[in-house]
Formats: sequence, C-alpha cells, structure tokens
Amino acid sequence: MSREIRVAALGLGRLGYYHTKNLKEKVRGAKLVSVADPFGDQAQKAAAELGVEKWTKNPDDVFQDPEIDAVIIVTPTTTHGEMIKKAAKHGKHIFVEKPLTQSLNEAEEVIQAVEDHQVICQVGFMRRFDPSYYDAKKRIEAGDIGKPIYFKGITRDFTCPPEEFIKNSGGIFLDCSIHDYDIARYLMGAEITSVSAHGTVVQHPYMSKYNDVDQAITYIEFDSGAAGDVEASRNSRHGYDIRAEIIGTEGSLFVGTFRNRNAILLNAKGSNYEVIPDFQTRFNDAYLLELEEFIKCVQENKEPRITALDSKINMQIAAAATKSFLNNGEKIFLETSKTANLSVG
Ligand SMILES: NC(=O)c1ccc[n+]([C@@H]2O[C@H](COP(=O)([O-])OP(=O)(O)OC[C@H]3O[C@@H](n4cnc5c(N)ncnc54)[C@H](O)[C@@H]3O)[C@@H](O)[C@H]2O)c1
Repeated sequence: MSREIRVAALGLGRLGYYHTKNLKEKVRGAKLVSVADPFGDQAQKAAAELGVEKWTKNPDDVFQDPEIDAVIIVTPTTTHGEMIKKAAKHGKHIFVEKPLTQSLNEAEEVIQAVEDHQVICQVGFMRRFDPSYYDAKKRIEAGDIGKPIYFKGITRDFTCPPEEFIKNSGGIFLDCSIHDYDIARYLMGAEITSVSAHGTVVQHPYMSKYNDVDQAITYIEFDSGAAGDVEASRNSRHGYDIRAEIIGTEGSLFVGTFRNRNAILLNAKGSNYEVIPDFQTRFNDAYLLELEEFIKCVQENKEPRITALDSKINMQIAAAATKSFLNNGEKIFLETSKTANLSVG
C-alpha cells in the first residue's frame, strides 16, 4: 500500500480554499494536517470548517514542521518564489499554482532549489488534466486530425478580479494567457518560436495603473510551422468562457462550450441557458485530478506531467508577449527548448 502524504495548504483565498477542501475530502493518499494564511481569520476558520488540527498565520511554521511531507501553495503570485524556495529547503514536495513565479530570474532560482533539494514540484496548469483537453490531446496523437496547423485559444473571465489581485498578478499575459500558451504547446506538440501581442483597456480603467489591459490578443508561431492566436478577456458578462480550436490537415477539434448544463428549460418566460459561472465549476474535475496526480508523484517519486522547468517556458512566452504588447506588437522571437515533455502523460 502507498504511504499517506501529509500535506499543508498555504493561502486560503479564492482558489486556495477550494483546493484545500478537495484535498481534505477527495484526494486519496493525502492527509491535510495544517492550513496557513497570514491575513484575517482565514486559517482558523478553514481549520474549523475542515476539521484540521493545526492552523497558523505564519507560513514558516509549516516549512519547519517535520510532520509535513508536501505543501500546496495558492498564495498571490508575487509570493510564489519565496514560498517554493523555503519549501524546497525544508525538503517539502511542492504543488504551486500558476504562474511558477512572477519573474524569470526567480523562476531560475526556484528550479535550482527544487533540483538541489530533490523535491517534486508540480505547477497548476490544470487544463492538461481536464477530460476534454486530454481527450483532444489523445485524438491528435492518434492522428485523427492529421497534422495540427492552427491553434485558437479563448480565455474570458466572467468577472474581472479585484484591483488588489490585478496589482500582484503580473499582468494579463502572465496571469491569464499563460494557460493558453501551455495548452497550445501541449496540444500542438510543438514549442512556440515567436509572439506578437496587442492589448487595450476596454472596461476597467484601474488596469492602466499597473500597465495592464483587460482585453488582449497574442499571435503565435510554432517550431512545427503551425500558427495560432490566443485571446484573453476580463469582460465576459455572458459567463466564464474557455474554448480552444485545433485545426489539422485532416480535420479539426473543438474543445469547450460556455454552456454549463444540457437540460433546457422552456416556459412562458422564455428559455434558460445555464452558462459556466466560474473557473471552479468549469475545471472541477481537472483541479481534483491534478492534485491526485501530485500525491501519486510524491508517493512514487515520479516526475509530474507539468514541472517547474516546463512552467518556466510558459513564463518566457508570457514575458515575450508582455514585451511585444509594450512595444506596439513588435514580433519577439523565442529560443525553443527541446527538454519539455509535451506527450500525453
Ligand atoms: N489555475 C487557475 O485556474 C487559477 C485560478 C485562480 C487563481 N490562480 C492562482 O492562484 C494564486 C492565488 O490566487 P487567488 O485567486 O486564490 O488569490 P486570493 O487573493 O483570493 O487568495 C490568496 C490568499 O493567499 C493569502 N496569502 C497572502 N500572502 C500569503 C503568504 N505569504 N502565505 C500564505 N498565504 C498568503 C491571502 O491572505 C489570501 O487568502 C495566484 O497565483 C493565481 O495566479 C490560478
């Protein structure tokens, strides 16, 4: 029988509490032993709600706790680098939300720390675990659409995150489009060689304070000769709208819909069309499957489907897109690495 992995959760906000509850209630092989969040009464409240003995406002308590094997880090992006380095130094295995860190320099440092301390580090690119994207990947590898030649990705948020989040997010390309850069590389089985990005503030003026935008587009080219485009929006009042199209030489794949349920209600008032309201609803399965995979990787000492090194490539693409956007869409070329694992997993 596999050993039980004792886990602590760091950061109990929008996504952190959701991951922590999943871990406590659903992930086999894991035991939630501690929760940490420095602000308000979040840690104490989560501990009471989830029946966890230990809670703390000081994340260092978690790193120094010999009872803990692994941590899940769902804190603001600006804190990821510091958290990962501390966790690795104390020999804790790491699941960290995307993006890996906020800067590429920090990404280098955490990759080194993970290597030096020989811990597992998986990054939260959950689309690779979503059953629809995963099915698409298997069909592409089986040759069902021939050679993939064009990728289209759509990521539209139903509600714009609050200013406090935007401030620490690293901007729309690093925070939002990075999901599409990752899934584009994975589905196309190819690395991105150039980006050209544009963006505009169409609805939320506070974006400009952080050199950020609420509507953006990145044109991408791959080392396979394929091309694509990635749209990111914070203005999707029709629902949380996440879709992809992969056009191949022999056919196409369409992933995702903004429809949440299939039952259609028709009555005197009209009809209902329940749309997906948020990321937790759309990626319910994927968020659970990625945590299950993380625990399995720790138990079996195996490399995760999405590593820190692989996540650095996504950050390089996002950094190039941000630079392109700031330079009026200038085409930026990227050096491609052949080390990433883009197979089905
Ligand atoms: N994969 C996805 O789909 C997805 C979706 C949303 C957010 N995220 C990522 O998750 C991370 C958190 O996002 P969120 O929306 O949950 O943010 P949030 O602001 O709602 O929550 C962050 C939490 O971390 C706490 N915190 C701050 N500093 C801390 C520290 N040093 N130690 C422990 N806790 C600390 C805050 O008090 C807060 O409770 C971000 O990196 C974001 O990019 C990923």
